[in-house]
Amino acid sequence: MVKNIYFADDKLVVLDQSRLPSEVVYLELSEPQQVAEAISKLKVRGAPLIGVTAAFGLALAISKYSGPSEGLKAYFYEVKEILAATRPTAVNLFWALKRMEGVFLAYYDDGFAELVKALKTEAAVMFAEDVATNEAIGEYGQALISRPSKVMTICNAGHLATCGYGTALGIIRSAAKKNKIEEVWALETRPVLQGARLTVWELMADNIPVSLITDNMAAYLMSKGEVDLIVVGADRLASNGDTANKIGTYALAVLANYHKIPFYVAAPLSTIDFTISNGSEIPIEQRDAKEVRQVMDTILTVADVKVFNPAFDVTPNSLITGIITEKGVLKPPFIEKILKLKDI
Ligand code: MRU
Repeated sequence: MVKNIYFADDKLVVLDQSRLPSEVVYLELSEPQQVAEAISKLKVRGAPLIGVTAAFGLALAISKYSGPSEGLKAYFYEVKEILAATRPTAVNLFWALKRMEGVFLAYYDDGFAELVKALKTEAAVMFAEDVATNEAIGEYGQALISRPSKVMTICNAGHLATCGYGTALGIIRSAAKKNKIEEVWALETRPVLQGARLTVWELMADNIPVSLITDNMAAYLMSKGEVDLIVVGADRLASNGDTANKIGTYALAVLANYHKIPFYVAAPLSTIDFTISNGSEIPIEQRDAKEVRQVMDTILTVADVKVFNPAFDVTPNSLITGIITEKGVLKPPFIEKILKLKDI
């Protein structure tokens, strides 16, 4: 698969996901504002990838700092704030920035060169850890599928949303290797179409059977017995297992419950917010009205119609069959099992 992000000649190079699948274009980012813009405009997206991109952005900004040494700490926190202000729901962003802050403070007294090296190394370690995490999630998840199955998913929780392999799509990839994927139903995922533009593109590249449906076709397929399980990614889990993910996920979970179809959430530990007890505390990002009024650049409606555009919704833990992490599959009741993972 294509690379999502990498360092080259002291620039952060990112694949512009807003232009996929029609164009494969890379952007060279050298300033923190450019990294922040790439994240907030969904050029780089998906909770794990947002976190690691911000970590690389922070390392890059510090490596280019040329002001007085007494201003370095203030600059670090200024850049951290710029990056933290990009997207409020995906907790991996704050998790990654906090991890970088720990490294910054630990190496602050060791001299500039050592500090920069440590920050770049930490971002690279996070990248590698994320790939290994997703492979583990894939392995645990595929073991839940016993026979060739039809799997439904929403948005893109794949290679493109992570540093590689994917969470929900990682499970589908691992199951496909064992010939256990008969069909993937990919919801197009309005308003920004991550399912239609990204999930379909990445599964077809891997020769995994996939059919695109519009979001309002899910219930019909379930009623016809055409869905064996649903697997989705996550942007933030509360300690009780309530899960924020792409808008429309909650509707799928309600439908799955009615039709008695297993509904799984795939998420690395970095997506769990141990500081909140339930989903009502998860901030939900509201996005630009343009995303709803338009499909890509084409206006669909009355140009100034009022719009409601939450990017995520929260699925209550009672609708979740299992949470698939890199440490194994959690079954309900979740709270004690999640809290046990806190110290890992
Ligand atoms: O707005 P996006 O495209 O960043 O939303 C992405 C999702 O909702 C994913 O399901 C989630 O981040 C998990 S990605 C492994």
